[in-house]
Amino acid sequence: MERLHKYLARAGLASRRQAEEMIKQGRVKVNGAIVREMGVQVEPGRDAVSVDGALVIVKDEPVYVLLHKPVGVVTTMNDPEKRKKVTDLLKGVKTRVYPVGRLDYHTAGLLLLTNDGELAYRLTHPKYKVDKVYQAAIQGIMPEDALDKLTKGVLLEDGVSAPAKIRRIHKGPASVYEITIHEGRNRQVRRMFEAVGFPVTALKRVSFGPLKLGDLPAGAWRYLEDREIQVLKKACRYTEF
Ligand code: URA
Repeated sequence: MERLHKYLARAGLASRRQAEEMIKQGRVKVNGAIVREMGVQVEPGRDAVSVDGALVIVKDEPVYVLLHKPVGVVTTMNDPEKRKKVTDLLKGVKTRVYPVGRLDYHTAGLLLLTNDGELAYRLTHPKYKVDKVYQAAIQGIMPEDALDKLTKGVLLEDGVSAPAKIRRIHKGPASVYEITIHEGRNRQVRRMFEAVGFPVTALKRVSFGPLKLGDLPAGAWRYLEDREIQVLKKACRYTEF
């Protein structure tokens, strides 16, 4: 809730003092009713505030946060099991932001959160084919034919996966593969690896479009830099800003 004169000032309509004058003059309505007294509270986004008959809308500044999601945290905002949420980790971020896509409870890595709904929509829309890079650990070493299947596309219960890029980055009793996909189906990487007989033992997203996780520690977050926002928008042809 916010006081009406502050809300009008934040909308860029007038100073707080001028806003108080407007209210006294009977020019301001809240949900269709003229408000003349001071101190009335409004709920931004819920209450319809108008001045001289024109609706007043306060647009939040767009905020872009890059989080290194640790394992053991849910991406969803409403978890029936009341487990820890990614937004619980964003101490200091005052604006309400929403995750762009999802990472499973057991998956770590780069998660973007924003209040820019248009950007979030575009980044998750299959049409824009935004690449995501994951590092997946498995037991053993995958033979060529399994790699070939993953590259060309494997049959999953919701259809064949689109072509992917894959390369081994660590060889050992447990190997690590880096896989690049642009689709964002539920548990997609895990299901792709399962489909070729190599279940993933640990999964981490290291990049999302042009954004890189870098050495941000698990559980930490940072705001995107202006340059990163620009290239991210370019990656999904969102240039009307
Ligand atoms: N693929 C998965 O299997 N899990 C994720 O969290 C993201 C992609």
